[in-house]
Amino acid sequence: MQIAVVGSGYVGLVASACFAELGNEVICVDNDSSKLAALQRGEVPIHERFLPELIARHRGQRLFFSGSLERAVRASQVIFIAVGTPSRNNGECDLSFVEGVSREIGRAMNGRKIVVEKSTVPVCTSDWIRKIMLLNGAPRSSFDVASNPEFLREGSAVTDFLYPDRIVIGADSDTCAGVLRKLYEPLICRTYARQKDAVPAPDDATTIPQLIVTSAKSAELIKHASNAFLAMKISFINAIANICEAVGANIEEVCEGIGSDRRIGKRFLAPGIGYGGSCFPKDLKAFRSVAGEAGYDFRLLDEVIRINDEQCQRFLRKVRSALWTLKGKRIAVLGLAFKGGTDDIRESPAVELVRALVRELAEVVAYDPAATERAREVLADDAVTFGDNPYDVASDADALLILTDWEEFAALDLERLRNELKYPIVIDGRNLYSPELMSELGYMYFSVGRPDAMPKERDVTRLKKAG
Ligand code: UDX
Repeated sequence: MQIAVVGSGYVGLVASACFAELGNEVICVDNDSSKLAALQRGEVPIHERFLPELIARHRGQRLFFSGSLERAVRASQVIFIAVGTPSRNNGECDLSFVEGVSREIGRAMNGRKIVVEKSTVPVCTSDWIRKIMLLNGAPRSSFDVASNPEFLREGSAVTDFLYPDRIVIGADSDTCAGVLRKLYEPLICRTYARQKDAVPAPDDATTIPQLIVTSAKSAELIKHASNAFLAMKISFINAIANICEAVGANIEEVCEGIGSDRRIGKRFLAPGIGYGGSCFPKDLKAFRSVAGEAGYDFRLLDEVIRINDEQCQRFLRKVRSALWTLKGKRIAVLGLAFKGGTDDIRESPAVELVRALVRELAEVVAYDPAATERAREVLADDAVTFGDNPYDVASDADALLILTDWEEFAALDLERLRNELKYPIVIDGRNLYSPELMSELGYMYFSVGRPDAMPKERDVTRLKKAG
């Protein structure tokens, strides 16, 4: 199929590369000329597994980058809108980019087309897209508007796209649903997975993804409700972790117990310093106001947000209680991205914590496998230095904080790390290590929702770095 994808952000770029991988001819459109030039040169602006390989494989063959929305629309049968929907000050989505694109699509129409929202948008946006296109000259019978929300996670976006749990098609006509179903057929029937050069399936991929065909409005709601539910799961488990800390229980044991109920499930029950990223914080606020506009006061979401905000503050209190005063202390920070596997620092609790430590006049030395460059830009005014590896930043530090769940951090040489530190204190916001092991290795180890671990050796000063 001939496809246009408008917007080369996370969703747009991954969708473009993956639709090309499925055999379609794709034009990815963006109006940011420097980003466009970089994409045309073959550069990949985000750190995302398998994306560089797919772009290299299809660029110039089946995948093209263009600044002309009009030409892309005219050449395409299906047009995906994947532009940004940033938060306004009151938490609502700013839909002006979606409106602008709908206007241009309406003006460029030259035959039957399907316009599909892929950005996360409030319910009823599809109606607005239709109205705007009609107002701008698109003949009523020449197009359908559908909603096809994307559930990809940063860090595993390509495999989430190619091996999804479910595909949601929100279409108000059978013909339109049929065209979109055809587009996804290689994923639904798993013919893609059998291709010899296919991106390998992750171990936990479902065998056959479920195809869910709904109305456009239901599909819009599915996306917001999914993200709100997942965020609620995280806040819920963080609240339980806080109770565990207060009574001396262990959140891992509690998670094992509740997660083994299949109605609840084990996934998304990892406690920590709270959720961040470009989706959950923004989508929760937007969904809150969507519900309000619909006349429903969704106060549960306020509480989910409040618990999340408080989780960072609680971690900071943990740091204070482990170190007493922070002024002048050298604190090593591992992790700046909002989660492992990405260089994205948007709404990252790690960055928020670094800022809070700097405000308390601590001397922060940070390392992240991928997000350092982005963090350097946003922390330019703060007194933070950056190291080249975990051992480097640990050198002579009063304590080490783990703020992002990178796999690399879970595999550190903990003896070497301890020898680098001035004091063997680790405060882990992601529960990467076993408290028993840390105790054996001579650490004072504080994590989330689990009992604190003290060094097996009696004399902590003996573990101080020589000199
Ligand atoms: C999320 C949704 O998962 C995805 O379906 C949607 O399309 C976009 O938003 P993403 O933001 O990339 O994806 O990351 P995700 O893996 O969901 O993690 C979000 C945040 O929650 C991260 O900060 C992560 O560290 C945190 N998290 C996640 C937890 O604290 N505990 C968990 O158990 C899971």
